[in-house]
Amino acid sequence: MSDSTPSTNDILAKIRAQKAAAAGTAPAAETPAESATPAPPEAPTAPAAAPAGTADILASIRSKAGAAPAAAPAAKAPAAAAKPAAAPGGTADILASIRGGGAPAAAKPAAAPGGTSDILASIRGGGAQAAAAKPAAATAAPAKPAADPGATAGMSPAEMIRAARSAAGGAGKTAPAVALPSKPLAGRVTAAAADVPRRSVLSTVISALCTPIVLAWTSFAATTAASTLALARFMMPNVLVEPPTKFKIGPPTDYAPGTVSTKWQAQFNIWVVNNTVDGVSCIYALSTVCTHLGCTPNWLEGEQKFKCPCHGSGFYKSGINFEGPAPRPLERVGLRLSEDGMLEVDKSIKFQRELGQWANPSSFVGVG
Ligand code: FES
Repeated sequence: MSDSTPSTNDILAKIRAQKAAAAGTAPAAETPAESATPAPPEAPTAPAAAPAGTADILASIRSKAGAAPAAAPAAKAPAAAAKPAAAPGGTADILASIRGGGAPAAAKPAAAPGGTSDILASIRGGGAQAAAAKPAAATAAPAKPAADPGATAGMSPAEMIRAARSAAGGAGKTAPAVALPSKPLAGRVTAAAADVPRRSVLSTVISALCTPIVLAWTSFAATTAASTLALARFMMPNVLVEPPTKFKIGPPTDYAPGTVSTKWQAQFNIWVVNNTVDGVSCIYALSTVCTHLGCTPNWLEGEQKFKCPCHGSGFYKSGINFEGPAPRPLERVGLRLSEDGMLEVDKSIKFQRELGQWANPSSFVGVG
């Protein structure tokens, strides 16, 4: 392709020069195209009187097209022989005849220009032979017409535009596939650069995940231990811790005659009394349980009586009831003088006066 696009005047001048040269030198049977359009009678005079304008050129073409059927051999241009009846009358017909006539039928389909611009471009590019040779070159490298200046040499503008469009379309399809990998690669590089912070984040996450697991296992272990202890306690017998029923309360001299000792009330629930009952001076131990409903009476030293705070029952120093709802006297517990001279109490034995049990020697220790 030439560096500068020839103008329409240049093209017309070139056509005029070609027509003039063909009229003067070219024989009628050199090429099929020329044989299909034999030199008109006015061709010899063309060099001397070249067409002055586009109208002259078109008129010349029309006259050639009209004369071609009569002069063309029937064996050389069978395709052109079918067109004499339709002599071009207008510019459109002339262009149509250029598109369809002159060139060999085998070369037309690929090289036939599609529009006026294509026809002009083919004329600028050097004729039908160049147009027939270009498609092969254009299809040989369809993907890089715009990128390879050498591949566009000899191509018409329309072909160059078509090749550029196909290349742009192909580039539009393949560009994402080429451009996309660069971003993930950059992301990988960034992630590799931030490897240390990522490790710290992972360690933090792992620690956060492990903490609940440790707490869960700790809770499970504590629950299991508590359950085991509870089961062991359940398997053991329940033991009621009570004070012994037999115990020593000291020598008889610790209890003066006519006195009531409350020393063992809190510890053993007994009063120790040194008194004379039924003419017998003795020491005995009274239970602190009221015979009404089981409350604990209080010893009133000033009144010399046991007074129950619940319902007001009163008992003498001897333990005999005299007021209130108590139905019977207080009970005595077993008492004896042990081998070591100590008074020994046995709470497992009860003595009731209404039953005549206070006369039992095991219910008192005689003194004096
Ligand atoms: Fe002692 Fe009722 S319990 S008087």
